[in-house]
Amino acid sequence: MKEIKARTIEDTNKLAEKIAMLLNGNGCICLSGDLGAGKTTFTKALGKVLGIEEVITSPTFNILKIYEGKHNLYHIDAYRLEGLKQDLGFEEVFEEDGICVIEWYEFVKDIIPQQRLEIEIVLDGEIRVFKIHGTSSRYVEIEGEI
Ligand SMILES: Nc1ncnc2c1ncn2[C@@H]1O[C@H](COP(=O)(O)OP(=O)(O)O)[C@@H](O)[C@H]1O
Ligand SMILES: [Mg+2]
Repeated sequence: MKEIKARTIEDTNKLAEKIAMLLNGNGCICLSGDLGAGKTTFTKALGKVLGIEEVITSPTFNILKIYEGKHNLYHIDAYRLEGLKQDLGFEEVFEEDGICVIEWYEFVKDIIPQQRLEIEIVLDGEIRVFKIHGTSSRYVEIEGEI
């Protein structure tokens, strides 16, 4: 597990940039952390790196939003899906080329890819601590490069 501290949004942007570079256009990022921890902010930063011009908003009411860019960004907010085990057709999204970001992934662990970069964001006073953990060899390697 790697810990990266962010004091400003600029720090979050830099981290997102690095992770996007390491993912090289495809992969799965799972975000956890309290409301206000900075999950959507991190996703917005990723979108910027991917060259997505559309404004990225919280997908809470949509569950899934797709942003087209150099590489697509699939943004899922699972907050309303707690405990769901039923197939929602997300597999197609997970198989697509592009980067998939899942906020509140802990609610839908059974229906998301096993291989992923898990990031827990913990607010410690003014500082946001990104606790990063890769679940498979590819992601462990990425974790090591961050
Ligand atoms: N690295 C950061 N530095 C300063 N403020 C931040 C940072 N990340 C997020 N914020 C602020 O925290 C608030 C909540 O962020 P948000 O990304 O919406 O959280 P979440 O999606 O986890 O609920 C926003 O007002 C955002 O501007
Ligand atoms: Mg959010």
